[in-house]
Amino acid sequence: MNEQTLSKPPRAFINLAMTTVLLTVGLIVFGAIVRVTDSGLGCGNSWPLCDGTVIPPLDNVTAWIEWSHRLIAMLIGLFGIGMLVLAWRGYRKNNRAVITTTFIAAGLFAFQSGLGAVVVIFDLPPTIVTLHLASAMLLLGALLLSAIFAWHRPPTIPTNRDVVTTLAYVTMALSLIIILTGALVRGSGATLACPDYPLCNGEILPFNQGSLETVHMMHRFAVVGLGFMLIMLVWYMYRGGRGVLLRRLSVLALDWLPLAR
Ligand code: HEM
Repeated sequence: MNEQTLSKPPRAFINLAMTTVLLTVGLIVFGAIVRVTDSGLGCGNSWPLCDGTVIPPLDNVTAWIEWSHRLIAMLIGLFGIGMLVLAWRGYRKNNRAVITTTFIAAGLFAFQSGLGAVVVIFDLPPTIVTLHLASAMLLLGALLLSAIFAWHRPPTIPTNRDVVTTLAYVTMALSLIIILTGALVRGSGATLACPDYPLCNGEILPFNQGSLETVHMMHRFAVVGLGFMLIMLVWYMYRGGRGVLLRRLSVLALDWLPLAR
């Protein structure tokens, strides 16, 4: 094998992985469009066909929205197969991190597609829709890691955890909790369960009021927790003299929190 054939797969892999990442971001946004336009059952409870047909009728807008979501998912699946092939050819001997993350992404994609089918067949149950969203986020994370590991190969995965690394993990986990509880608030109809602010029907811990109030307040608590943790993250970034890019990114995350509410 000459130099050229050795250097080709990695570059092609990074391009394909980044394209798949962007397509997945697009599909996640499109999934939200499926949801807010009430197109989740655009194809009825039919799967893998759309209301018994391969291509929906031209005048059925919700069916087209749902069908397009499935079509883009299929495209991501094809790109994913390409990633598996290129990862195996280019990295199996010298970069296990790429192989591991690409295979995890493939497993998550299969799980995600299965969940999509369950969502459709069982009339969009809110908990499964939330799981579908959670799995979409994990899939995006796995694809991103796979692209990053292909681009930058860490000699070893560091095992010592400093405060900044721990806070980065905590803020990431809290962000996921906020996304998921937010989806559950909407999906379960808990949007107006707590009409007052910052309390919920006059209580700070409304757990005895019912599940809708509980879900709603869990969402608010996670936002407060994230705000607090992000302030700590920014503080430690500056105190520890971290690189300028990391410091700016942490400030950006803190600035974005009120906008995301
Ligand atoms: C890579 C694959 C996929 C990704 C990343 C993805 C992602 C998403 C996301 C982020 C949402 C919005 C969820 C929310 O707002 O809570 C969504 C909604 C939805 N997805 Fe997917 N999806 C994928 C594949 C599929 C497949 C294969 C199907 C069906 C066979 C499907 C069916 C649905 C349906 C019906 C909704 C709307 C749920 C509702 O209206 O409540 N998805 N998807």
